[in-house]
Amino acid sequence: MIKKYLIKYGLIYFRKQKLTSKEYLSFSKIFGAPAFYPRLKGLSKKYPQITVVQRKFTDKGPNFGEQFHTDSSYTKKPPRFTMLFSKIVPRKGLGNTEFSSQYLAYKHLPLKFKNKLKSLKGTFSSNGPIAKTTIERTKEKGTLKTELIAKHNIIRSINGKKTIYCSPGHLIAFNKSMINFENLKNSLFKHQTKKKFQYSLEWEKDQIAIWDNRSMLHQATTFNGNRKMHRITIS
Ligand SMILES: [Fe+2]
Repeated sequence: MIKKYLIKYGLIYFRKQKLTSKEYLSFSKIFGAPAFYPRLKGLSKKYPQITVVQRKFTDKGPNFGEQFHTDSSYTKKPPRFTMLFSKIVPRKGLGNTEFSSQYLAYKHLPLKFKNKLKSLKGTFSSNGPIAKTTIERTKEKGTLKTELIAKHNIIRSINGKKTIYCSPGHLIAFNKSMINFENLKNSLFKHQTKKKFQYSLEWEKDQIAIWDNRSMLHQATTFNGNRKMHRITIS
């Protein structure tokens, strides 16, 4: 039942969840099998599937995940869903997660733009622009020796509905050489992240959010302070 609503609405969340890591992992399996995150070591040997998404008050530079993206778009089969479980949160209203529905973004694309994107593929890299937001965590727990790259269609069908699939945090090229990459990228990103497609999720401690990682862009908002989330991605 929960999975049905997740697929229908793209994002669901639960407040006041006092789960142990074992219980959290077991809850995640309702949605599918936990995916492997290639960039960072997991929480512990016992819980390699749980990634710690953290901002420390001593960190310099942008917050982990602070640019619109979809998780692991540089892999051949990016995770179907992403879950976050809040452990440490700043004051309510700070460190939100913002979502942008790409079903809506596709629906509102002008026909000319739809046709332009129809047979276009994007190249996505683990070293894309968002990689700079994980520098501090990579120093502590980084596992990646080489760049990971994957190509995906920019327009995809998920559950029979068309969506834009383009992660601004990872895109480095399009497959058609006659296209002006910068121009098309900028107008596409601008459209994908229009305010009318967005929802901003406020966090409190012990909250779990799960969303569709293929039809929803997400990003962390800018703030200074401590924030710690336990993430599980689902294949
Ligand atoms: Fe993310």
